[in-house]
Amino acid sequence: MASESDPKHASVVLSEAWRRLADLAARPAAREIRPLFAADPERAWRFSASLDDLTLDFSKTSIDGAALAALLDLAHAAELESFRARLFAGEPVNVTEGRAAMHMALRAPADAGMRAVLPGVVDDASRLAADERARMRDFVLRVHDGRQRGATGETFDAVLNIGIGGSDLGPRMASEALTLAHGAKLKPRFLSNVDGHSFAALARELNPARTLVLVASKTFTTQETLMNARAVRAWLAAALGEAAVGAHFVALSTNLKAVAEFGIRPEHVFGFRDWVGGRYSLWSSVGLSIALAAGWEAFQGMLDGGRAMDLHFQSAPFAENLPVLLALTGIWNINALNCRSLCVLAYDERLRQFPDYLQQLEMESNGKSTALDGTPAAHGTCPVVFGKAGTDAQHSFMQLVHQGTSVVPVDFILAATPDHDRPEAHQVLAANAFAQAEALLRGKTRAEAEAEMRAKGTSAAEIRAVAPHRAFTGNRPSNTILFHKLDGYALGRLIALYEHKVAVQGCLWRIDSFDQWGVELGKVLAGGILPDLSTGPKPGAHDSSTTALVQRFRALRGEG
Ligand code: F6P
Repeated sequence: MASESDPKHASVVLSEAWRRLADLAARPAAREIRPLFAADPERAWRFSASLDDLTLDFSKTSIDGAALAALLDLAHAAELESFRARLFAGEPVNVTEGRAAMHMALRAPADAGMRAVLPGVVDDASRLAADERARMRDFVLRVHDGRQRGATGETFDAVLNIGIGGSDLGPRMASEALTLAHGAKLKPRFLSNVDGHSFAALARELNPARTLVLVASKTFTTQETLMNARAVRAWLAAALGEAAVGAHFVALSTNLKAVAEFGIRPEHVFGFRDWVGGRYSLWSSVGLSIALAAGWEAFQGMLDGGRAMDLHFQSAPFAENLPVLLALTGIWNINALNCRSLCVLAYDERLRQFPDYLQQLEMESNGKSTALDGTPAAHGTCPVVFGKAGTDAQHSFMQLVHQGTSVVPVDFILAATPDHDRPEAHQVLAANAFAQAEALLRGKTRAEAEAEMRAKGTSAAEIRAVAPHRAFTGNRPSNTILFHKLDGYALGRLIALYEHKVAVQGCLWRIDSFDQWGVELGKVLAGGILPDLSTGPKPGAHDSSTTALVQRFRALRGEG
């Protein structure tokens, strides 16, 4: 018989845990939510958890006591405790690249003693992070108090971050959220797309003499970012002269050699290490745009909030652990109920870019179909993530979420207290957020729809024809994440909540959440197609569709 420490035993325990979940999902009422509320007046309290003012309410899912117990068993069977310990010990949990995923060190104090493994080296990660953070802080304060100026002697009024993916989405989202919450010290602008229209629009708006340019790229090899950086450099040089460029350019990267080749002043280079994944890099020097735009205090608040969530994730029992519970609601919806998408609705204009940011975090991390051992993943992995700010979303895709043929679980995000002076607007916003979640849960029966129409004096024929369309199934799952106020601290907690959620799900699915090989092939093929756009496709180099499209493209431009 296999002993408990035997990997065979562990894999049997894990398979049994997954099977128990499948058995629970096969119960006839497994998707029903309304009866769970009818049966348990305490449900809202029993199926929610909090960290200070931040509450995750997952009672509007079809997880009942038995399902929750099975999900928690699954987490234990997947050895989540030991995964979490290895993650925080800086072990190479990114197995395909032999690297730690130690972004948590970026928000820890210098003496936290957090180490991080890279091939051939072990870093004192929290110390390195704190040293670089001190340099960043000094730079930010110098810009804000005018000691650091542009080449003409003018102070900076805008920060232009050039980067893409993780070097754009997190900083863009957080800069917008925190400047809308507390005002902007510098106007934050972002250039990611290689599409020339993108920079053309920014160039019309920005004053080169007052623009500080950050080139954010972990690898400093990303085609789009380097092309955009060269375009911005040319724009600055054309306006102010070549000698002016140095005073305006800053680099944020792990690739210090490439940065030096690009010609950025050493004192304008802020580094980080390979144990920070691109989509986790907003806490590193890549977050410089956030600090420049929203102020150091807001940025430090964000780091502190992330740290608070780290400590909670490390110490809270799974049954009270927000990232674990958020991950388990996803596992239930995805794996037990086969819901293949996740809609994230921030009822907060300041967080309107949060779904975009989350798309990379979730889908680049867990959009995998190969398990750690190289076999096909045994379970469905990341859902398609999409979303928008509420209430706007209600007037675009929410029709499908309420009445479509697919069940789309939703995460609602809301701050109780706004930072504007129109409380009545916030009441309407909040009422809509709660109402959407309630409508998804409650639905409307055909009989209710008919009664409503009868009460309005609608004819019997019209009731017969239209009532079926006015009925909602209800029993559609959602989580609600509610907190007091949006500031750096609250945002940091929210981001780290989702980061750890993604890591927990990756652990349960037995995949590497920290690599992204799937983005490579397209980059390589683009390199092959680029010369064909000038010369015409090489015979046999592509499939016939790609060949024909390149030919049509050239013909439309009068080049074919
Ligand atoms: O999209 C692929 C990717 O490698 C992301 O993981 C990364 O965030 C982005 O490109 C940008 O990479 P870099 O920061 O190295 O320019």
